[in-house]
Order: sequence, then C-alpha cells, then structure tokens
Amino acid sequence: MASSKAFMWLLFFFFVCSLNIFAVLATEFNVGGDKRWVVSTVKDDQLYNQWAGKNRFKVNDTLRFEYKKDSVLVVTKEEYEKCKSSHPIFFSNNGKSIYKLEQPGLYYFISGVSGHCERGLKMIIKVLEPAAPPQSANHTSTPTVAGANVASVINGVVLVMGFILGLFM
Ligand SMILES: *[C@@H]1O[C@H](CO)[C@@H](O)[C@H](O)[C@H]1NC(C)=O
Repeated sequence: MASSKAFMWLLFFFFVCSLNIFAVLATEFNVGGDKRWVVSTVKDDQLYNQWAGKNRFKVNDTLRFEYKKDSVLVVTKEEYEKCKSSHPIFFSNNGKSIYKLEQPGLYYFISGVSGHCERGLKMIIKVLEPAAPPQSANHTSTPTVAGANVASVINGVVLVMGFILGLFM
C-alpha cells in the first residue's frame, strides 16, 4: 500500500517534469487555424485577435501564415491602427510566411493588400516574458507579468491535485 502511494507520487513527479519540457519547447502556430490568413467576407477587426487570445505565445515560438494573393507585414502600433505602412519591419508575400517571435512584447501584423487590413486581416500578438528571466543587479523586483510564470503555476496546481488524490489513497 505504502509503496503504491510512493509510486503515484513518482508518476506525478514525472508528469510535472514533462509539463516543464513542453513549456520550454518552441511551438509553431498556424495563424487563424483552419481559416488561415484570409480576409473575411464579414468585416470584423477582432477576428484574428480572438484567435490570438486563445493561444499563449512565448519567445522563440513561430507563426506560420498561409494565404493566397495576400501578404504579411509586421508594423508599429500606429501603422497597425492606420492599416498602412510604408516601411514595415517585416514583409512577406510568398504564400507561406514564417515569423519567429524572438523577443517578449507586442507584435502588430497587418495584410499589405489594399482594404484587407480594414476588413479585419490584422492581428496583435503578445509574447510573454520567459518564465525564469535571468536576474541582474539593477533589475530589482520587477512586478510579475500576468501569465509569465505559467510553468510554476502549473506545477503548483498539479502538486495540490496530487496531494488531494494522495489523501484518498
Ligand atoms: C531562443 O533561441 C535563441 C537562438 O536559438 C536562443 O539563444 C535563446 O536562448 C532562445 N530563447 C528562449 C527563451 O528559449
């Protein structure tokens, strides 16, 4: 009996470890899901932000944009709001654009095709700070960004679940 309890704890331990591995691996996101990067028939400027809101993006994740006769631009916040950019940070129109999110922060994507951004082919991506940022002397106690410590929150939840289950065994 006691040994099976220990075994269960061991299982939980490995489960928690495997979650950590998934938290570190970079993910490739297919922007828009099955819809891809396609201008909608109904005007909806939150369409892609809703898709983005369902996902968590971390440093080194990549976004894959698939489309026909369109383009992907990374622009500034002001250009995003105006749906216009003369010097985009990134431009691609080859039908399959991969964009790597190399730093935490906000990324503004728009379509470069006239009228498409206005119809909703645009998106803001928020990339979270890494879970364990390197500590430096002049970086004293920065407030925790919401969601930044996903891995440790998951660990906590799993350990509490394990503890509760342990009580019943
Ligand atoms: C992102 O990738 C670069 C280059 O491959 C690497 O040096 C860096 O440590 C990675 N950052 C994170 C947070 O995984």
